[in-house]
Amino acid sequence: MSDNHEVAERAAEAETKAPRSARAPVEYPVGSASEFPPGSHKIVQVGTQEVGVFNVNGDLHALINVCPHQYGPVCAGRVGGEMRCNASTDWKFHWSRDGEILICPWHGHEFDLVTGRCLALKEMRLRKCKVNVVDGEVRVSLGGG
Ligand code: FES
Repeated sequence: MSDNHEVAERAAEAETKAPRSARAPVEYPVGSASEFPPGSHKIVQVGTQEVGVFNVNGDLHALINVCPHQYGPVCAGRVGGEMRCNASTDWKFHWSRDGEILICPWHGHEFDLVTGRCLALKEMRLRKCKVNVVDGEVRVSLGGG
């Protein structure tokens, strides 16, 4: 049996046996680190949730694939940047943060991939998950990021 299967089996076993209050976060293997090169993203299954794993400038970020606006599949959206025009850009249009902004495919709300926050509505944010790389394997935990 592969290491991935053993980890997944242990995760499933821990998830079903322990009472909810006593459960430690369970890590789910979602692939090797080489499958998530900088600038890439992929939607993976983590327990009962779909999670988008994004490599933003070399750092991995995992977000639940549900938009807080109207529950669209936000992680299936396009990744882009942000147009700025303010005092810091000398009031000239300037494209910035390329590869750091996720655009929901349903209604176009834009989210910061690092913080999960919506750019237009600060009270709206994506749910993040913990993501670790252990021995070259990417692991995602539900419940905090
Ligand atoms: S469901 Fe994502 S912007 Fe509306």
